[in-house]
This record gives sequence, C-alpha cells and structure tokens, in this order.
Amino acid sequence: MELTNRPRRLRTDGVRSLVSETELRASDLIAPVFVDATTDERVEIESMPGHERVPVAESVARAREVAETGVEAVMVFGVPASKDAEGSRVWADDGVVQRAVERITDATDLYVVTDVCMCEYTDHGHCGVLEEGAREDPELTVDNDATLESLRRVAVSHAEAGADMVAPSGMMDGVVGAVREALDAAGYEHVPVMSYAAKYESAFYGPFRDATDGAPAFGDRRHYQMDPANAREAVREVRLDVEQGADVLMIKPALPYLDVVAAVRREFDHPVAAYNVSGEYAMLHAAAEKGWLDLEAVARESLLSIKRAGADLILTYFAEDVAAGL
Ligand code: PBG
Repeated sequence: MELTNRPRRLRTDGVRSLVSETELRASDLIAPVFVDATTDERVEIESMPGHERVPVAESVARAREVAETGVEAVMVFGVPASKDAEGSRVWADDGVVQRAVERITDATDLYVVTDVCMCEYTDHGHCGVLEEGAREDPELTVDNDATLESLRRVAVSHAEAGADMVAPSGMMDGVVGAVREALDAAGYEHVPVMSYAAKYESAFYGPFRDATDGAPAFGDRRHYQMDPANAREAVREVRLDVEQGADVLMIKPALPYLDVVAAVRREFDHPVAAYNVSGEYAMLHAAAEKGWLDLEAVARESLLSIKRAGADLILTYFAEDVAAGL
C-alpha cells in the first residue's frame, strides 16, 4: 500500500516535543485566592476541593503556598466583614482585599491582581448599586453609571494597597475607561487593567458564589453579563474595552467558550486571558472523586486546550496543582 502522508511519523517520542505547538508554563497561570474577614481560621470551600478562605492574618502564608509551586501571580478575592446596599466595604482602606494585598505585596514577589467588583460586598448580591424599584421589577437591576462611580474608588483603593493590576469583572458599560481615568488621576498610570471583557451569564460560577456568599438575593445577572448564545457580540464587547484602554482581555468562563477565546485571539493582538472558572474546576473534581476521570490528566489537558485556543494566560483553581507537576 502506498501512503505518501503518514502523520504518525511525527508522533514518535523522539520528535513529539520538537513539533509540539503549545506549551503550558507555570508562568502562564494566575491562582485565585480567597481572603475572608469573617473568620479567624482557614475554612475549606466544600464545592472547590483543595481551596480555602483564609483570614487576613493568613494571607501571606496562603500566597507563599502559591509561590512555592512556581506560580508567580495571584488574584485576590475578598469576603467582607459586613455587607450593605452600596457595598461600601469594597473600597474601604481597611477592607479585606486592601489589607491582604498590602501584606502580600510587602512580603512576597508575587504579582498581585485584584477583582474589582461589588457582588461580594452588597447585601443584595448584585454587582453594583441597584436601580430604584429593582427588588420588585425584574426588568431593573444595576444602575450602570452610578456603579461606575463606586468602581473608580475600588480600583484606586486597590492600587493604593499595592495591587499590581486591577481586573474589573462586573460587566458595566464603560468600566474600563472609568477605572483607567481614575487610576491615572490618582497617579497610578503604570497599573494595567485586565478587563473581564467578555464575561458570560454562566451557571458555571456556582461554586465561587458559594465560596464568597455572592449569589444575587433576587433575579440574576442577565441584564449585565453576556448571553451565552452570543459570540459576535463578544468581539464587539472586547473592542469597546480595547478602545477604553484595556491592557489584557479576558474571556470567562474558558472551556465552554473556547470559540470566543479563539475569535478574540484572531481579532486583537493584546494578551488574551481566560478564566477557567469554579464550575469547570468542581466538575472535574467531582468526576475524579467518583473514579471516572484522572484528575491530573484532565486538569492539564484543559489548561493546554485553553492555551491552544489562543489564551496567553489562564486564571485557574488548578494553578498550584498543575504548576507543581510541570
Ligand atoms: C465577580 C466574579 C465572579 C467570579 C469572578 N469574579 C462571580 C460572578 O460573576 O458571579 C466567578 C469566578 C468563578 O466562578 O470561578 N466578582
């Protein structure tokens, strides 16, 4: 039999790595960490095995655990001591994220990114200030422009605490421009903005919302986060953030939206990030616990696939485990 093309020639052990197109490195990964002002002890997050909410006093210890695996960056999320309608603990100088970021940046060389959003801080669980009557009328939710004013303060307070990069995640229109302007006015021109540029209204955030007690008390986020049906709209959303000065463009979630990662990669030459979210992590763990999947293998394959689709960097709860094995 005469076969000219035999792709298997390039799959021998000697040549595989020479022709490999994609490489996963620890330096591509950002590990999310949770700091909780309501506890004096580390608390396991049940739906995210291996992850904990730690008190501020443990934030440096937690960050050092990440650094030991070879991961060089963390994203800090906070659970505040109290919540109110405006989410006022989110921009407080002595807020949970601000205190943790101060400590981590003082004590380690980690690159510290913060999530700029309100949902963990508002008593109603939405990502901003509510419109008048929102509790009764399902067509109303978050007041976009009033929320921008709050988010400016949040970004500046994070930069003041020492954050190396800020990441607005609430999907408010104009947030990248507002945050950029506020940072510049406060003397933080050098702090980049990673935009959660195409963030979908996804059911894969469930475990994260358990972890941060950040689920909306009524309604959902469909009036601000994107419709999972839309991919062309994602490119439009991302373009707006580019025009407003976004430095890094993030797509979230990752695995169910690899077409969007690839589209954004093709369309823009900014660094592209993807957020391998809590639900993506939880489902692999659940299957592995039943003995149905090899956790280490599927975790690594997931992250490799996210990179292959076009992401330069990945936010993932697997960061430490995968990095340690690289
Ligand atoms: C908003 C925010 C959320 C996540 C990251 N930032 C929650 C949401 O939009 O409901 C979800 C991350 C994950 O599921 O891993 N502060």
